[in-house]
Amino acid sequence: MKHFPVFLEVEGRTAVVVGGGETAARKVRLLRAAGAAVRVIAPSVTDELASLERAGEVTLIRRLFHATDVADAALVISATARQDVDAAVAAAAGRAGVPVNVVDNKALSSFIVPAIVDRHPITVAISSGGTAPVLARNLRARIEAMLPPRLGQLARFADSFRTAVKASIPDGIRRRRFWERLFAGPIAAAVLAGDETRAREAMLSAVNRPPTGEGLGQGNGIVFIVGAGPGDPDLLTLKALRLLQEADVIVHDRLVTPAILDYARRDAEVIDVGKAKGSHACSQGEINRILLREASAGRRVVRLKGGDPFVFGRGGEERDHLRTHGIAVEVVPGITAATGCAATAGIPLTHRDHAQALTLVTGHGRDGEPDLDWPALAGANRTVAVYMGATAAGRIAERLIGHGMAPDTPAAVIADGTRPGQQTRVGPVRALAELAAGIRPGAPALLLIGEVVRHADAWMDVERRTQDRVTACINQ
Ligand SMILES: C[S@@+](CC[C@H](N)C(=O)[O-])C[C@H]1O[C@@H](n2cnc3c(N)ncnc32)[C@H](O)[C@@H]1O
Repeated sequence: MKHFPVFLEVEGRTAVVVGGGETAARKVRLLRAAGAAVRVIAPSVTDELASLERAGEVTLIRRLFHATDVADAALVISATARQDVDAAVAAAAGRAGVPVNVVDNKALSSFIVPAIVDRHPITVAISSGGTAPVLARNLRARIEAMLPPRLGQLARFADSFRTAVKASIPDGIRRRRFWERLFAGPIAAAVLAGDETRAREAMLSAVNRPPTGEGLGQGNGIVFIVGAGPGDPDLLTLKALRLLQEADVIVHDRLVTPAILDYARRDAEVIDVGKAKGSHACSQGEINRILLREASAGRRVVRLKGGDPFVFGRGGEERDHLRTHGIAVEVVPGITAATGCAATAGIPLTHRDHAQALTLVTGHGRDGEPDLDWPALAGANRTVAVYMGATAAGRIAERLIGHGMAPDTPAAVIADGTRPGQQTRVGPVRALAELAAGIRPGAPALLLIGEVVRHADAWMDVERRTQDRVTACINQ
């Protein structure tokens, strides 16, 4: 390691920035965020720096640099893009014993400025030792994605209870365990979800309870009911990804693809409830029991569901069951099949010209026959997305046409949407059964019905081919 990493206290201290361009303005922003009293030396400056001066937030000295400018500074940054001025700033700072950074000039700098992830008071600094700043910024983006946006709130929340926890659990080892559980448990999850009131109540009761065990009421784990999206791992939310990497147990159903499970923490236990031993799915009762068992053992459980947990996903039932048993639950939305499939098939679900409503329905009724409001679904200017409707596609088409839908209304069957091998079959609604019959057996498939399907890439291909055939006939 060539540089010694430190975090410098600059609150109320003078930081000198030489230069008045955009790079200098960026450094000024950072220094001000850290509470420094910033002095800018430059003959001319950007509008932003000028308005900061007018607001009294920086001191601006509109002239060329003098060696004496660095005398009382805690640090100096030179961002002039002029070799001679930068060299003079570095030399003056060196003589005065003031740390100096010259932007993009490692040789003239006595310190380097890292790429930072700011979740005040948590700060992550990344440095490539000045060798590859773009790589450092790249890493920063990845770390940004991994850290919850409310991490700083969590640190401040914990800080506000430090004294109370110390008084309640004098033993250092037990206290450390308490904090470890806190940061992995429901109280921290509530802070990160923005529910600080609930977290504070839970924390107060945890701290006030006689310290008979280090759990202090946090013995229960937590269940995150997480939407995994339609299959493409790139469609996971940042939150879903983070939770997958922190989970002790992942309980997933059949729609969750192996490519998504690859993002789970390596040593997490993975329970497939979509395919139990006898190769049929666990009942909802069994799934509820598994979730309760794992959370009651104090584990951090991710209940991973295809698409969105609250769209034909029984997320509501599972959440209610866990809550009834006093288990903390958080629901994390995912991209539902309709939006995922529509995007990859090139079908806008609404359109100002021909779809002012989007209706999501299930095609799976108690006896195979879905009990739906057919006259409403057959109406004009709407898009109907049918989940679990591939096997009933023929009957669905009959009902819609029977209730007034034009038989030539465009329809699409999208199977394995967003996954490798996605199939998009388009045609008139009267041919829906044939379209559905052509998909991979067992593939999850969505039906989309309405004028918007004319915008599908596949529909345009068909029209182009038809047009080519017509042109070929005319030319013969
Ligand atoms: C039990 S529902 C779950 C829906 C899920 N919660 C969602 O929001 O997408 C299962 C149905 O969703 C649809 N589906 C889910 N993933 C799909 C995919 N990748 N491609 C096409 N349809 C999909 C199919 O209609 C499938 O039968």
